[in-house]
Amino acid sequence: MTMQSADYRESGLDFGRDFVFGSATASYQIEGAVREDGRGPSIWDTFSHTPGKVWNGDTGDVACDHYHRVEEDLDLMQQLGLESYRFSIAWPRIQPTGTGPANEAGLAFYDRLVDGLLARGIRPIATLYHWDLPQPLEDAGGWTSRETSFAFAEYARIVGERLGDRVQMWTTLNEPWCSAYLGYGSGAHAPGRTDGAAALAAVHHLNLAHGLAVQALREVVTNDPEFSITLNLHVVRPDGPTGAEAARRIDGLANRVFLDPMLRGTYPADVMEDTAGVTDWSFVHDGDLEQIHQPVDLIGVNYYSTVTVRMWDGTGEKVVADGHKDMGGTAWPGADDVEFLVQPGPYTAMGWNIDPSGLEDLLFSLHEQFPGTPLMVTENGAAFDDEVVDGGDGPRVHDDDRIDYLRRHFTAAHRARARGVDLRGYQVWSLMDNFEWGYGYSKRFGIVRVDYDTLERIPKDSARWYAELIRTRRIPG
Ligand code: FCB
Repeated sequence: MTMQSADYRESGLDFGRDFVFGSATASYQIEGAVREDGRGPSIWDTFSHTPGKVWNGDTGDVACDHYHRVEEDLDLMQQLGLESYRFSIAWPRIQPTGTGPANEAGLAFYDRLVDGLLARGIRPIATLYHWDLPQPLEDAGGWTSRETSFAFAEYARIVGERLGDRVQMWTTLNEPWCSAYLGYGSGAHAPGRTDGAAALAAVHHLNLAHGLAVQALREVVTNDPEFSITLNLHVVRPDGPTGAEAARRIDGLANRVFLDPMLRGTYPADVMEDTAGVTDWSFVHDGDLEQIHQPVDLIGVNYYSTVTVRMWDGTGEKVVADGHKDMGGTAWPGADDVEFLVQPGPYTAMGWNIDPSGLEDLLFSLHEQFPGTPLMVTENGAAFDDEVVDGGDGPRVHDDDRIDYLRRHFTAAHRARARGVDLRGYQVWSLMDNFEWGYGYSKRFGIVRVDYDTLERIPKDSARWYAELIRTRRIPG
């Protein structure tokens, strides 16, 4: 037996030939060009332009200007040796008002992107929805309306008809937890509503949208892609005698309320009971669960940190260190009496605790719960306050802390595989620094730095480290 380091700082571990090493981004976070070629406004345009919602008043108007620099960015991916690229498609580029005929210029952009990837031997992983809902759909109720689920299926069909001969893996939704609970519950994300009942309605309509979109895609694609969903499943650790009860509740709201309908065709009865004071769940119509429960080929896992919970005893100030901004509402409807304890460090620049064992635990538990369903880490990475130094031959970023974070999480992924988990690949978040939602440009997650004055791309040391991992298949020393 080999010695395993408790802190997961290993090197030399071999991932083999088939493991797919890539990197991820999302449309609103990198593209810019928000008013070009017929793109309509999304809820993130509205939200970011609303004073007080985003740090420093930052918006995605220009972002990384990826829309205009797509060829340069594709070359960068090739230089790093990426084997896959997980990107998202901006719904308002395809359907500027969220319904109606396709906007050819929008489709043409993603056509070029996909062709550019394939020409460089990089596998396209397309996410249909990474939070940029067309604003007119929000004006009609957004994710609180079931019409949005059907509109989403129509959009999926349009995209599938165009790209469904080349995209090799489809993800319907990115982190519906955030769309529902941060968008409609806590108010930290667009559209910024703070209504627990609305958040739970959004949960259901996002689940329904997923199921309808999988069916629409299956009908129109002509290659043989994989269909998936990406969830930010929460690793919930119990604390003290009331920890198990608190963990059950948070696991229900964060994880089972998505996994159960999608993969088992049911809603968890305990979650419906816990939230009975918030909503009566009458938005779940007969037949919806059959629509949601569609076979998927893979579960995408986004992992950053862990939470530790216990029941609040009603005395003292309730602690809610769940890693998200407090914008007046709650991200946890029906769980007002759950405390989220401050996690032990170390932390990233987001204040998120670094705990690679959480990733190993999460992957293993999914493997046990859903045997036979392959997994992929569709996001993992870290923000740190990078510094640019003069490297003699140009600017350099010696981001040892990010390399350390990645090393530890790749070690965790490797350990999960060694325990039998069918983990197919890993998409590092993110290819480049970008618009980090409510935090604007203040948090840098990229393995490539973006200079927001010149829009120059500067590969950080972590990008070189990752390129070596991909080339050698082994965690570098
Ligand atoms: C995830 C999002 C992604 C990025 C990372 C840091 O929740 O999917 O867009 O913001 O967090």
